[in-house]
Amino acid sequence: MKALIIYWSGTGNTRKVADTIQAALAGAGVDTRLKLVKEAADDDLYAYDLVFVGSPSYMWQPPPPMLKYIKERMDYYRERDTVKMGAPGLPGKRAVVFVTYSGPHTGLNEAVPVGKYIGQFLEHLGFEVAGEWYTVGEFHNNEEASTQGRLGDIRGRPNAKDLETIRGNVKKLLA
Ligand SMILES: Cc1cc2nc3c(=O)[nH]c(=O)nc-3n(C[C@H](O)[C@H](O)[C@H](O)COP(=O)(O)O)c2cc1C
Repeated sequence: MKALIIYWSGTGNTRKVADTIQAALAGAGVDTRLKLVKEAADDDLYAYDLVFVGSPSYMWQPPPPMLKYIKERMDYYRERDTVKMGAPGLPGKRAVVFVTYSGPHTGLNEAVPVGKYIGQFLEHLGFEVAGEWYTVGEFHNNEEASTQGRLGDIRGRPNAKDLETIRGNVKKLLA
């Protein structure tokens, strides 16, 4: 099995989750590549059995570099006619979306649109979206958003417990 992890991270929270996924996959013997979106611009997703795409939530959307990546890759695959009407699932092709967020205003609902958006990119390509993993992350350089929001005091997150949850998710995915 071959796996690819693509992510963007402004302040390191999503990177921590990406690194944890990579370590968990490698520990399970999966051949895994970890790339920033800008390094993955030419990677063919169909060369992998398991694709992970990770992003923070910015104004409940993926941030501009992730949006750009998805738009460019959709154009690329549309031109090659791999985006089929009805999005039939390709046997053995699975994907996971992972999102970090701070939820200062409405909580998890600020992250779910990001997970769904990225998930739709992968599903349109024929990947089965086998997971949407949402992880709380400190809102760096914004103490109010990290302590006074709907999720309370989220400083230091993702913490060891959050990353343990991610390791557990990887284990279940591979089971
Ligand atoms: C410009 C900006 C906008 C953000 N907008 C949201 C938001 O709408 N909802 C939310 O839950 N978190 C928001 N956040 C918080 C980030 O999603 C959160 O801290 C995330 O874990 C950052 O991940 P990163 O360290 O990988 O960049 C925002 C952060 C920044 C810098």
